[in-house]
Amino acid sequence: MDIGAVIHSCETCSSTNDLAKELALGGAPEGTVVLAEEQTAGKGTKGRSWHSPHGRGLYASIILRPAQSDISLLPLVAGVAVAAAVRRAAGLEVGLKWPNDVVWGGKKLGGILCESGFLGNIISYAILGVGLNVGQRRADFPPDISPAATSLRLITGKDASRDVLERSLWQTLDVWYKTFVEGRKSEIVQAFLTKLIFPIGTVINILRDKERLTGLFRGLDLQGRLILETGEKTLILSPAEILSIDYNSLG
Ligand code: BTN
Repeated sequence: MDIGAVIHSCETCSSTNDLAKELALGGAPEGTVVLAEEQTAGKGTKGRSWHSPHGRGLYASIILRPAQSDISLLPLVAGVAVAAAVRRAAGLEVGLKWPNDVVWGGKKLGGILCESGFLGNIISYAILGVGLNVGQRRADFPPDISPAATSLRLITGKDASRDVLERSLWQTLDVWYKTFVEGRKSEIVQAFLTKLIFPIGTVINILRDKERLTGLFRGLDLQGRLILETGEKTLILSPAEILSIDYNSLG
């Protein structure tokens, strides 16, 4: 696949996802990466922003051109690839919180924002945006984010090399994107489940619009949707429907 064969690095940009989208519309090949030292309007999921201070985080967007238009598994592909890359580069076992969060010790270490463009029903490009907190010290996080956020530096006490992390990420993404291209969906779902911070059988609370749902987490289907058993019925929930998830951990 050759993810990372072409890399556009910029000092400052509004959002690497937006820059990647422009490049994709201009015909950039699959695997092209956009990296920034800093984002002035970094985007999170659900219209949130992604705090992106200069030189502290990994801010990357990867252009993909999948042949199949069902790309619902791509955020999971990115999640397992990020977890594998962090393990390789920093020796750390991170967890994943469905659908987009990379977590450690109950705090958010990173996130994934997958965006796409279609021509009619046919996918023209997908952008995998990956944000990872690498060198942030506590004071680098704004007060509203700080209690729920962490960084590799805060966890390990060391400065991880962003270079090494990035190269690991291109390699692990290559592997997991190939799995996606070959249609090996259950492998992706299984890999994601092994990293998921709440195991099958956990009672989870979900906020959907203005409705609060409580039920047993029963797993993920082959489109990466969450299966929730609420007593009366089994619900299949897609990421777009869900505002937040929490659960009671025993640990
Ligand atoms: C989330 O957890 O809400 C997703 C955060 C995704 C952040 C990354 S940083 C690189 C890329 N560019 C963006 O504007 N967002 C993603």
